[in-house]
Amino acid sequence: MHGRDFLSLQDCSPDELEQLLSTAQAIKRDGPGTALAGQTIALLFDKPSLRTRVSFEVAAARLGGRAIVVAQHEARIGEREPVSDAARVLSRMVQALIVRTFAQATLEEYARWAAVPVVNALSDAEHPCQALADLLTLRERLGALRGLTLAYIGEGNNVATALAFGAVLTGVRFRCASPPGHGLPEHVLAAAATLPGGGSVEQLADPVAAVRDAAAVYTDVWASMGQEHLLTQRTEAFAPYRLDAALLAAAPPDALVMHDLPAHRGEEITDEVIESLRSVVFDQAENRVHAQQALLLLLLGSAG
Ligand code: CP
Ligand code: NVA
Repeated sequence: MHGRDFLSLQDCSPDELEQLLSTAQAIKRDGPGTALAGQTIALLFDKPSLRTRVSFEVAAARLGGRAIVVAQHEARIGEREPVSDAARVLSRMVQALIVRTFAQATLEEYARWAAVPVVNALSDAEHPCQALADLLTLRERLGALRGLTLAYIGEGNNVATALAFGAVLTGVRFRCASPPGHGLPEHVLAAAATLPGGGSVEQLADPVAAVRDAAAVYTDVWASMGQEHLLTQRTEAFAPYRLDAALLAAAPPDALVMHDLPAHRGEEITDEVIESLRSVVFDQAENRVHAQQALLLLLLGSAG
């Protein structure tokens, strides 16, 4: 994986994903070392962020490198100059570009022109760095991933897509329960079906059927960044998909509760459920740091 882009979890083989997760666990246990000494990563955000920004900054610092956040309201890439120029300029200065944007095509444009690895820090299509942290969290809590069922309740969005790909690659059964018309895109289901690793992806409408036998139940916002204007018109269709105590009661009693955060309490998840002892949402957030250290090591470290 050394020197490559990370635009989608589809870019990983099962062995590479296994290596990422075991490296992340080892770094969390033993400390990160200084493999990125003298290296700089640039973080570019077209959308807001707390976790992704701070976790990449901390990950780079812990590895002995540094991160620069490029303020998009100042750089105005795409407006002051094309992505093709910005990508080539930044490639002369830093060793990786970490990009949060809207269209996956924008990430692909960065990757086309950059001479350094480009990492998807969330696009409308996928959030692969979140899925790395989520799989790490499941592994820490439950051990081997192969054969587990992960239920995802809500929109088949960027977070669900990355989890679907990650699940197949790690041998997990992924069930996505969504209101009709809001499930995983057909091209994601088709792509997931071609991936190696032995896991599976099933799109359902019934949230109760999805959580039955699930080792963990995951949810995310009903309207993602850039689509907030759709929230009001979605509320009625999404209400039966709220992760509340009644839905959780249909899952095994030890099922974990997961959310990538930020959460909208009272919408996709109740306060009671996210604050319950079964919730691992802050482990997921912390694990962004460890998983991304492993990712940076694999992309940039001398042993990658
Ligand atoms: N989960 C996540 O990516 O959070 P931020 O939007 O705060 O980065
Ligand atoms: N689906 C959400 C995830 C936020 C981390 C969004 O794209 O806004």
